[in-house]
Amino acid sequence: MKINTAEFIISNSDVSKCPLERLPEYAFIGRSNVGKSSLINMLTNHKNLAKTSGKPGKTQLINHFKINSNWFLVDLPGYGYARVSKKTKQVFQEFITDYFEKREQLVCAFVLIDIRLEAQKIDLEFIQYLGEAGIPFCIIFTKADKISKTKIDSNVAAYKKQLHANNWEEIPPYFITSATEVIGKDALLDYIEGINEMVYKDINSF
Ligand code: GTP
Ligand code: MG
Repeated sequence: MKINTAEFIISNSDVSKCPLERLPEYAFIGRSNVGKSSLINMLTNHKNLAKTSGKPGKTQLINHFKINSNWFLVDLPGYGYARVSKKTKQVFQEFITDYFEKREQLVCAFVLIDIRLEAQKIDLEFIQYLGEAGIPFCIIFTKADKISKTKIDSNVAAYKKQLHANNWEEIPPYFITSATEVIGKDALLDYIEGINEMVYKDINSF
């Protein structure tokens, strides 16, 4: 899929104030600093559409971006950022959970995982939560430019093993990406395009 237009629509912390339009929507979620906002910029060919930072905790709201006038990409705050206060963490947690539970337009969540790290408890718990809530999701491994191809393969294999150990019989679709080296862009956009086609074919059920 080619990206022709990408526009920022609205930021907020209240799911009821998210755009009312019934367009298929894809949300990026994951630990702070994993590269959610950077990946949105890479996919949409923008430098600063989504705000990024070297310091964790940059994205603090639910941000809607309308792509090609017919679908939404959503940038969410990261979870697991220790330096925000307990209270802030709780508020984040609440509106993120609210978003996942109430947003009917959400067709797929993308859980971003730093490819360099071994499986983290917080990510596995979030994946578990999505599974239990029946929310379709994929995994996006980020920052693939930081390690060798061999290491990428072994880390992905280890992650799959961990998911099997956590009773996931089927491994969800996954993508290997780098925002800086533009890796994984076409695969991800083609995947989204495929889902959009299904949604639009069966628009009455959406
Ligand atoms: P929060 O908004 O705090 O939750 O973080 P985020 O997940 O949106 O991360 P963000 O996109 O702001 O990126 C965090 C840092 O990682 C920045 O310094 C980025 O430049 C860097 N980064 C993101 N993606 C990549 C990547 O693919 N490769 C490399 N080398 N660095 C990356
Ligand atoms: Mg961000």
